[in-house]
Amino acid sequence: MDSVNSYIFARAVHIFAVVFWIGGVAFVSTILIPSLKQIPDINNRLALFEKLEGKFAIQARITTLLTFISGIYLIDVMQIWYRFLLWEFWWMHLMVIVWLLFTLVLFVLEPWFLHDWFRKQALANSAKTFRKLHLMHIVLLTISIITLVGAMFGAHGYRF
Ligand code: HEM
Repeated sequence: MDSVNSYIFARAVHIFAVVFWIGGVAFVSTILIPSLKQIPDINNRLALFEKLEGKFAIQARITTLLTFISGIYLIDVMQIWYRFLLWEFWWMHLMVIVWLLFTLVLFVLEPWFLHDWFRKQALANSAKTFRKLHLMHIVLLTISIITLVGAMFGAHGYRF
């Protein structure tokens, strides 16, 4: 594959991964958690959350990796490392920050202590814990959408 084709391929992989990853975060934040909050039995609520979010976590780990690999490849092919020194490319910084945030949660905090901690909190006070969980997801989704829109405009030549 010549470098033009691999550039197009990497771009397509980047978008494919972002769609599955951030699309999944949008589904969890706007559909899954609000529906779970309506389940009266707290044990059922927690069990369903762990089953569904657990499956999504696998998908999110794969797509964050794909986003990272394709993103770094694009930076290298396009020779645009210098953008990290210019504030007008804030959306490039934001892409890396969003990626770092999710990577930290998915690969470090969740397997290390977040899963067990959440379980304990959800059994002690389910309503409060799911409220906090929902808020955290909405914050992450909002930052991701700002990043998406900034990157879309920025990548197509709009200068902020
Ligand atoms: C380490 C993480 C990431 C790196 C290194 C990276 C790198 C890149 C690069 C180099 C481009 C091409 C820019 C250009 O053509 O001027 C790009 C485009 C883009 N990225 Fe990322 N990115 C990362 C994470 C993300 C995240 C987390 C999101 C979404 C929340 C995202 C969404 C996008 C979008 C929407 C585009 C524009 C594609 C287009 O319209 O053609 N990226 N990224």
